[in-house]
Amino acid sequence: MIVSVLAIIVSYLLGSISFSVLIAKGMKGIDIRDHGSGNAGATNTLRVLGKGPAITVLLLDALKGVGAVWLGVWLSSSPTYWVPALCGIAAILGHNWPIYFRFRGGKGIATTIGVLATLCLLPSLAAGVFAILAIVLTRYVSLGSLIFVTLTPVILLFLGYSAPIVTVSVIIWALAVWRHRANLSRIFKGTENKIGAKADKGG
Ligand code: G3P
Repeated sequence: MIVSVLAIIVSYLLGSISFSVLIAKGMKGIDIRDHGSGNAGATNTLRVLGKGPAITVLLLDALKGVGAVWLGVWLSSSPTYWVPALCGIAAILGHNWPIYFRFRGGKGIATTIGVLATLCLLPSLAAGVFAILAIVLTRYVSLGSLIFVTLTPVILLFLGYSAPIVTVSVIIWALAVWRHRANLSRIFKGTENKIGAKADKGG
């Protein structure tokens, strides 16, 4: 029990490493949260710093999710997936509200990709195909992110995945919708920032 709690805490601390903040600070001496959409994530890194740093942030933020789930698998003695799944949630919470950066983080999607791809690869890939399609067609990364987190639990339920994985995917969905509430309102108004265009709205 103690070891499982420790794994969840370490996952939160791992998730709290905000790579977009570190890379923007290292490359340009700026706080990415004061630029573009103000989000500490890969999409905003693309706007502010370009493709190379954005891909680096995407991969490193996703790796936090992979690492957290594996930490849970490694340290948990239980045959169910509750501890790895909770470690994944903890990493996403850390990404969104990082302890090292005054609790101002990102929207958790890259870390979510890492968590879900590790917990349930094929359903995540299937949801990812629709998400990428939505991004290509609309140029709204936020819409693709929301499609990804919404479709994954639906597919998991349909395929009869175990309770921990389905439950965690629903919590991830709720977290992502909450973090994207400003994006959602802009999508409905038709004023959401498009990929490749300059962002002038935060939130
Ligand atoms: O993963 C974040 C993305 O869905 C939206 O980012 O910067 O456009 O708010 P942003």
